[in-house]
Amino acid sequence: MRPLTRRQLLALGLAGAGMTAAGGAGLWWSSTWGTFGGAGEDLIQPPVLTARDGALELTLKAAPARLRIGNRTANVQAFNGSLPGPTLRVRPGDTLRVRMVNQLEAPTNLHVHGLHVSPQANGDNPFVSITAGGSFDYEYRIPEDHPAGTYWYHPHHHGHVADQIAAGLYGTILVEDPDPVPVTRERVLVVSDLSLDPDGNLSDVTPMGQIMGREGQIVLVNGQLRPRLVASAGERERWRIVNACPSRFLRLQLEGQTVRLLGRDVGRLPEPMDVTEIELAPGNRADLIVETREGITQLVAAPVDRGSMAGMMGPMTGPLMGEDRPGAEEPVELLTLDVSGDPAAGPLAPIPEWDRLRDLRGDPIAARRTLAFAMGMGGVMVGGGGDSAAMMSFTVNGRTFDPDRLDETVAAGAVEEWTLSNSSPMDHPIHLHVWPMQVVEDGDRDLTEPLWLDVVNVPARSQVKVLVAFDDFRGRTVFHCHILDHEDLGMMGTIEAR
Ligand code: C2O
Ligand code: CU
Ligand code: CU
Repeated sequence: MRPLTRRQLLALGLAGAGMTAAGGAGLWWSSTWGTFGGAGEDLIQPPVLTARDGALELTLKAAPARLRIGNRTANVQAFNGSLPGPTLRVRPGDTLRVRMVNQLEAPTNLHVHGLHVSPQANGDNPFVSITAGGSFDYEYRIPEDHPAGTYWYHPHHHGHVADQIAAGLYGTILVEDPDPVPVTRERVLVVSDLSLDPDGNLSDVTPMGQIMGREGQIVLVNGQLRPRLVASAGERERWRIVNACPSRFLRLQLEGQTVRLLGRDVGRLPEPMDVTEIELAPGNRADLIVETREGITQLVAAPVDRGSMAGMMGPMTGPLMGEDRPGAEEPVELLTLDVSGDPAAGPLAPIPEWDRLRDLRGDPIAARRTLAFAMGMGGVMVGGGGDSAAMMSFTVNGRTFDPDRLDETVAAGAVEEWTLSNSSPMDHPIHLHVWPMQVVEDGDRDLTEPLWLDVVNVPARSQVKVLVAFDDFRGRTVFHCHILDHEDLGMMGTIEAR
């Protein structure tokens, strides 16, 4: 008999009841997560909530949840009992109203990652704090000319961001395209990772895990372990992939299939581009077109070397060896695509061109500034004291985050050139709220076409130049490293557009 899915169990009120793992706890401790059973179920789409008559109103309840992950019962945290939370579908011009209810034991709040909306008051305000047991009513007015694309939401309370995302709190926001892309099927694929102890509780992060940026023991797609996707040959699927991992980079490969990149983070490319792999830093999204060919293939996250602490930690590297070079180990299989059977009926219409991507190169630059991201010995006590604690500082322009200090002031409406520099031996994917960034100088990347991202990776000991148009909104918000442990340790600054 096929085991019931997590949602079927939830529907029956049975989630968590008597779900002892068939393999027993012994398996759990083997070093590879591949032995964690229960993989291969059919992919489930998160529930979808769609805006009607210009508005979408919903309640998002962040609460502890007992869910089945693979063949184990896990005590996680989830929005509305679902991991990922519901997918929110809106259109440019819509208003999104979210009552965020905090049933966690820690303060939290909500951030709409990538949306170009006001950061003020009850908009996308990262300074809001919703205490345990409290709630807050957000309202996001999405501009008429908002770029279509795949965005996401997650908590953003400084000091708790990595813990709450690692626990399962995230969901997708789709801003629909005014010219729909003809596809046979669209799928949302939220990739996340987490670590559980043998009792199915979330593992505590180690001090070294925080310094490096934690990578979970198991990698999930829509909360499932290596789910199976079924298609016929000759179909055109659209995959909207979100990297919701707190720190893990995903170098995605799907051998044997024709994969084209439709867009990244913000908007779409003028036309889809053939790709053999695509790298997503934490927080990045990719919209892919997969033209299916008969066969069984895996979507794989190949190892990414995002730097190491070698030479920086001195004597600390000894006992903690092996933890200091994350992401550089083995490829991880994320899902199986099983293409068989009769080719799908009739060819689809071609994908319409997209001509809405701006190019800021050539615009007058009102100001240039450098943001220096650094790590040093000393500073914050990671791990809260005791033997395993480490002293390490995470800074922007020499300072750790202070919500009451204003770090950067920009003129509303201006275009600025920012140099993001990284003096540390690890990569830092840098994210700015509200305003996307156009990458204009980045080592060997081909930048003939405008490249817009809201998370820009700045590799170890290098720098990247971006242009930002501070359009449409005034107010105070933040920029930070999207390795969320680094953000929680202080690698974040405040910015106000006035
Ligand atoms: Cu996805 Cu400030 O974050
Ligand atoms: Cu964000
Ligand atoms: Cu970082």
